[in-house]
Amino acid sequence: TERTLSIIKPDATNRNLTGKINAKFEDAGLRIVAQKRIHLTPAQAGKFYEVHAERPFYGELCEFMASAPVVVQVLEGEGAIAKNREVMGATNPADAAEGTIRAEFALSVGENSVHGSDAPETAANEIAFFFSGLELVG
Ligand code: GTP
Ligand code: MG
Repeated sequence: TERTLSIIKPDATNRNLTGKINAKFEDAGLRIVAQKRIHLTPAQAGKFYEVHAERPFYGELCEFMASAPVVVQVLEGEGAIAKNREVMGATNPADAAEGTIRAEFALSVGENSVHGSDAPETAANEIAFFFSGLELVG
């Protein structure tokens, strides 16, 4: 089975939505096999989002991700990478399908409540960024 990295972002932890968000992942058949609540520094957020360094919103994104605690977690299941992104919905909540996390909870294209890895290689890198093998408990 596949694993993917999920982050519940500051706009969602601020509004006490972690349980409602994780209920959607679990209802979709995804299993949380690692989880922790952390408060990223701007430098750590910058390193995690390094691939976006040239995008115009990079500074804003890093500042936002360091503005309050996040919940970082590993979701496991068949086709977990695609399934996670399906449950999350489109990046911009205005485009997100009904019933998705971003349609229900996201505030804007930046403050969009969740992150999910986009491919097997990025999933492996992003999981290793936050977790050691010992912390993944299937
Ligand atoms: P992630 O799962 O967070 O990677 O979202 P994504 O794959 O749907 O979007 P993408 O990788 O293109 O962008 C990464 C993150 O940057 C998004 O989730 C947003 O939080 C943020 N972002 C993307 N576009 C914009 C934008 O136009 N403005 C701002 N402020 N943030 C943006
Ligand atoms: Mg992305």
